[in-house]
Amino acid sequence: MENIIIKARPIGIIHTPFEQAEGTPIQPVKGKGAKGWVEVDNAYVEGLKDLDGFERIWLLFWCHRASKYKLQVKPYMDTQVRGLFATRAPSRPNAIGMSCVKLISVDGNRLEIEDVDMLDGTPLLDIKPYAAKFDHFPVTRCGWIDAADHQGQTKADNRFFQEENK
Ligand SMILES: C[S@@+](CC[C@H](N)C(=O)[O-])C[C@H]1O[C@@H](n2cnc3c(N)ncnc32)[C@H](O)[C@@H]1O
Repeated sequence: MENIIIKARPIGIIHTPFEQAEGTPIQPVKGKGAKGWVEVDNAYVEGLKDLDGFERIWLLFWCHRASKYKLQVKPYMDTQVRGLFATRAPSRPNAIGMSCVKLISVDGNRLEIEDVDMLDGTPLLDIKPYAAKFDHFPVTRCGWIDAADHQGQTKADNRFFQEENK
């Protein structure tokens, strides 16, 4: 398994008002109305056809300024240490982030978006439409998040941030 090397080429860049982790929304739902835009590489513009019919899209991105991962972390919304894979911490063995953002418009290679929780300059790996028919599962339990101590937490601090990665 460890011999498999996956190369990924960004398909664009996500632009947001957030220059550092501190003060950045911790999830789209906690950053309602925060505006950003996506600059899609011209090589992929043809693939944006029909995207404008969707109110929300998934952005998959690389948390390029995240610190080295630890397998147990204290997530933003809790005071307890949790297993990394039971959290949405940006510092991970593969630093993939996924956010369901609001799609405002598509104009050429430019997507206007809202509800962003990424740092400015974040490399974009993929775009997928959010489809409630596929993506919305009514569930009865959400692990530690149901009882997390800091339910009201909306903004990140610098705990997973690597300053020199700018
Ligand atoms: C908790 S993560 C959640 C990201 C995504 N919604 C997810 O669930 O995978 C969001 C935080 O990651 C950090 N972050 C966002 N973009 C980043 C980047 N490019 N490099 C490092 N950290 C980033 C910011 O501090 C932001 O508040």
